[in-house]
Amino acid sequence: MNRRDWLQKSLLSSSSILVSPYLLQALDSKDEFDEILRLHWNENPFGPSQKVIQAVQAAVPDANLYWDEKNEELRSKLANIHNLKPDQYLMTSGSTEILSLLGQHVGLQKGEIIMGDQSFPTIGIFGSRCGAKITKVAMKGNHLDLDAMLAAINDETKLVFICNPNNPTSTEISKEKLEVFCKEVSQNVLICVDEAYIEFSELGAESSLVSLVNELPNIVIARTFSKAYGLAGFRLGYAISQSHNINALQRRYPALGMAPGLLPFVAGIAAVEDQGFVTDVVRKTHEGKSIMYDAFDKWEVNYASSSTNFLYVEKDKFVNDVRPKLADDNIWITQWPSMKNHLRISIGRPEWMETLVTKLEPLRV
Ligand SMILES: Cc1ncc(COP(=O)(O)O)c(C=O)c1O
Repeated sequence: MNRRDWLQKSLLSSSSILVSPYLLQALDSKDEFDEILRLHWNENPFGPSQKVIQAVQAAVPDANLYWDEKNEELRSKLANIHNLKPDQYLMTSGSTEILSLLGQHVGLQKGEIIMGDQSFPTIGIFGSRCGAKITKVAMKGNHLDLDAMLAAINDETKLVFICNPNNPTSTEISKEKLEVFCKEVSQNVLICVDEAYIEFSELGAESSLVSLVNELPNIVIARTFSKAYGLAGFRLGYAISQSHNINALQRRYPALGMAPGLLPFVAGIAAVEDQGFVTDVVRKTHEGKSIMYDAFDKWEVNYASSSTNFLYVEKDKFVNDVRPKLADDNIWITQWPSMKNHLRISIGRPEWMETLVTKLEPLRV
């Protein structure tokens, strides 16, 4: 019995109240929604963890309070993990907000942002809205081309954006290579390293540049709770940097320590205390990836080896309208306009990936 039938039955049997058709309609669409395989936004299909749910439920009665002490508590916990100081963190409404702050920061100086031409676009979108020049450097295959990015830096350049692992190509650059690049660039230019997917890194979470923050004067690392921690709906992200950069970002940030709000902070605190959940998510994501790798290998479809929770797949072995055809089957995947010959497919639960394989099979050419 679905929710709609259950609700109608139980309400009709317990009283003569008529069930609102709008409520039933809403439940209908929710049931439909549940059947959609959301493989388009790199969400975590396993989260949030039970410990997070319990902590948030227990905190709901306190939602009358601003309670920015929870912000401090979360920053202290993160600082302990990374061996840094709490004043090296700015908590934001998802890491999107950090990218928007940095984009605005450069835009207001009428400076230039250098980024890969297949990379997460947010910083460029906000930057150009505020007057920044955006220079997109061609990729080297499916990787960011650090040499070409270095060569593109000029007197106008105020920021270099490195998404590592990179969205949408799913690839990563080793810490050793990035370290050399960042040491050279960060003397004069700000670098934002977006580590939204670092927990899924094939080189291990140690490939993060967090350990270099105190050495590099001009590096800002953007992190999120939206992916491996499964908290996208709470909108919780953070910047890590030297405190002079955090202070500068904070001056542009209107929320004065009270955003993202009590419940996201409570969720974040419980999430960092539950690292077992993240390990499990990464393991199950691997299972889903293997299912897709096996199918693509069998079909001789090219894909990038993924250090994220999504795949970057060449589409020429599928019908041209593969994405809308899958959408007709309630499977949502992504193809940004900039992705001429690729699809981006998030890794869902292993059984979803089995379904996807079945639905993709007849769409091959
Ligand atoms: C590379 C990258 N950075 C940042 C974000 C923004 O995430 P959020 O604002 O949910 O933290 C995303 C979201 O998909 C992403 O892929």
